[in-house]
Amino acid sequence: MTRESWQTRIGFILAAVGSAVGLGNLWRFPWMTSDNGGAAFLLVYLGVVLLVGVPGLLAEFVIGRRSRRNPVGALSDLSESSAWSAFGHVFVVTAVILLSFYSVVGGWILRYFAGSFTGAYFAAPGAYFESINYGVEAVGFHLLFLGVTALIVLRGVRRGIERATKLMMPAIVVLLLALAAWGVTLDGASEGVAFYLAPDIAFLQANFLNILPAAAGQALFTLSLGAGTMLTYASYLGEDRSLAADGTAIAVLNTFVGVLAGVVVFPILFALGVGAGGGGPGALFVSLASAFAALPYGQVVGVVFFGVVVLAALSSSISMLEIPVSFLVDEYGLSRRAAVGGLTGVFAVTGAVCALDQGVFGFVAGTLVDLLLTGGLVGFMLFAGWVLGADAVTELQGGSGPLARSLATPWLYAVGVFIPVFLIFTFVSGLADAAGVAVGPLSLLGVTLGPTRILLVVTAVVAVVSFLGLRRSRSVL
Ligand code: TRP
Repeated sequence: MTRESWQTRIGFILAAVGSAVGLGNLWRFPWMTSDNGGAAFLLVYLGVVLLVGVPGLLAEFVIGRRSRRNPVGALSDLSESSAWSAFGHVFVVTAVILLSFYSVVGGWILRYFAGSFTGAYFAAPGAYFESINYGVEAVGFHLLFLGVTALIVLRGVRRGIERATKLMMPAIVVLLLALAAWGVTLDGASEGVAFYLAPDIAFLQANFLNILPAAAGQALFTLSLGAGTMLTYASYLGEDRSLAADGTAIAVLNTFVGVLAGVVVFPILFALGVGAGGGGPGALFVSLASAFAALPYGQVVGVVFFGVVVLAALSSSISMLEIPVSFLVDEYGLSRRAAVGGLTGVFAVTGAVCALDQGVFGFVAGTLVDLLLTGGLVGFMLFAGWVLGADAVTELQGGSGPLARSLATPWLYAVGVFIPVFLIFTFVSGLADAAGVAVGPLSLLGVTLGPTRILLVVTAVVAVVSFLGLRRSRSVL
């Protein structure tokens, strides 16, 4: 079977950026930042994007381009092991979980889009969000969003949405810049700027272990990592492309949009008196709604803005639906129509559950997604490090410039050993914390170790041991 490939380098980058830039940047990022201490979260998040996100993105790219398959096919073909093939099926579950709540938020966006024409949310932005977020009507808008997503995927991904992405990206950036310039001039906005951009180091130290899992989960979510999306996109990529250069460009563009969204949201929220930690999943909606209510021609601005966000959300949601669809088509020989239809039926129900209950929604969209994506990406990284080994280095070097070539081997150790160990311990301690189990303090040889130090020490020990193991294993030359 010959596979299609992307016509142009920019076509691939746009599709990958289209998947990456979405509600994760515009909606989830302000929510997570608001819940986790503002600037302290931003700092940790940027660190994780650089040290975990970019190497992780390259792991998915390498596996995808090497195998030219969907995630399940890729893992089983390249490893010839039934355990890896079984693990590949996790991504189908992840995609189902992702689109379930994503579609609910997509529904909120559609609702705000429609409401912008009449100014429905102008009078009471906070109360309006509370009145539409969960319930039967939210189910209706979720189904609408899901239906549009399904139609696009049914017609084939390349037409339409690729073109829309080209317009959408600059439009989002221009609108966000304009809104940011306006927002920072509001009374009380400076406190919001400080909350978002001036990290409180004492707070960071005291809460590091709580911030870390949330920051890691957000970094993976916003880069569309850990679910096989980027793997699938890279499976259409020619050998002459530099994975490292493309990956870096995608990460930079995507991070820029998220950080900019924060510059818009926090000054406005603080000017409204909502303040630190009060944003929650409504942070984006409440702040923008009140901005548009106050602006001249607010209805027009609202229509344009939410219209563009709908496009951004769709270019991401189609990438979520595309994974299980291509899996069912490739591996089980289903027709595209049957696969889209069946899956949409499943999403309709799972999404409705999220749309009806705030508790379910918060858990699924927060903790559960963080866990699944982290577990998924750890799997991909270990696969690149231990199953592909030297082949992964070759694949990464193919089409790359001298810098990426020389960094390829250190990269392999990072994704094969250090980053997975770090992520696993991050999550174990995060879970222990959530379950109320205290980690440490521990006294060792007269030195008292707090939880952060215990994490670091254990991580270092495990990393060194597996580093030696990877060097000795035959897969790496
Ligand atoms: N990254 C997208 C966003 O920020 C969401 C997304 C699309 C995604 N595909 C994904 C997240 C795959 C995780 C995995 O809106």
